[in-house]
Amino acid sequence: MSKLTGSRKATQFTESVIREMTRLNQLHGGVNLSQGFPDFPAPAVVKDAACAAIQADVNQYAVTWGTRSLREAIAREFGRRHGVTVVPDEQVTVCCGATEAMMATMMAIIDPGDEVVIFEPFYENYGPDAILSGATPRYVTLREPAFTFDPDELADAFNNRTKAIILNTPNNPTGKVFTREELGVISALCRKWDVVAISDEIYEHIIYDGCQHVPIASLEGMADRTVTINSLSKTYSVTGWRVGWTISPPSLTGAIRKVHDFLTVGAAAPLQEAGVVALGVPDSYYVEVAAAYQRRRDLLLGILERHHFTCYKPLGAYYIMTDISEFGFRNDLEFARYLVKDVGVAAVPGSSFYRDAAAGRTKLRFCFCKKDDTLLEADRRLAKLSVASAGSRVH
Ligand SMILES: Cc1ncc(COP(=O)(O)O)c(C=O)c1O
Repeated sequence: MSKLTGSRKATQFTESVIREMTRLNQLHGGVNLSQGFPDFPAPAVVKDAACAAIQADVNQYAVTWGTRSLREAIAREFGRRHGVTVVPDEQVTVCCGATEAMMATMMAIIDPGDEVVIFEPFYENYGPDAILSGATPRYVTLREPAFTFDPDELADAFNNRTKAIILNTPNNPTGKVFTREELGVISALCRKWDVVAISDEIYEHIIYDGCQHVPIASLEGMADRTVTINSLSKTYSVTGWRVGWTISPPSLTGAIRKVHDFLTVGAAAPLQEAGVVALGVPDSYYVEVAAAYQRRRDLLLGILERHHFTCYKPLGAYYIMTDISEFGFRNDLEFARYLVKDVGVAAVPGSSFYRDAAAGRTKLRFCFCKKDDTLLEADRRLAKLSVASAGSRVH
């Protein structure tokens, strides 16, 4: 057999459907409500800081685990917001986005055969992350309309082989915000089975209707067994900068830093400098970010309902999960392709968020991290859409 083939690992997962939708959208000149990146500018103060850093010749490798000033800013902000003391030298590792932070963490702590609990629907990277790190995933379903989990089903997923659980709150794709009570149930299981919580909190500031973001690391007994992952991408609208980080217990930091070093060496040095400025903006910035996204959420909810989608109202992050069964298509992929080619709006087929494609067959995810004009253009295009049995529902 030829050796000119991909590895077994690489053949176990497909190309990202989300990024494929973005490419299809470019081909058809559609409105891209698939991949979650803003089409509006980043804050001027953050952009100016990046330009100033380059002009000041911050052009060489930063310390591999992150420039001191950025690690200090990350530790300071986590402590200030959540009352958890973080030691920058021992606990913070700056990576190339939350994406690398998650991959480095999993490769650093997982041995082949270790089980990892993952809630589904999940952010599509977690599947390949599990395969690449050798983890055996155990999926626990978040069930609509509120995307809650059954505590017994969760308890059944834990055993002696469980090494970690991956959490994402506020959640992509569902918009769920895990409550303190739910996190308490998860924490108790982590403590009982000596499991690490890996918590992706990249949408921490994008939260609605008075909901509160609770980092699992702030729960009793959890700081010592939680790796919190975050990034500049979403909070400051700089998804292309690729600056993220982990906050880990000192017992895990060394392993994460080694993996990170050999994967990427480090994140872009001048953009780390800009990250220090970003993390120093006044709290009013975060209030405005949340308010602006809540307004965009309500705008897109109104549009989708008018065009007969059944919507699950998100409490955080910037996506709306919808049910498309009323449109009479065979499955989500067929509908998503029709939508981008014939209607001119790109969205993500629900099956990309489930291990078993059938579970996502009636779902489609739209993002609303877009200018009003973009959302209103989607509204005009969706008018082409016809539905056999008109009538939408909101949960
Ligand atoms: C839940 C979640 N984690 C991580 C990422 C990627 O983050 P980054 O751009 O920092 O790599 C995304 C991007 O959509 C996301 O939705």
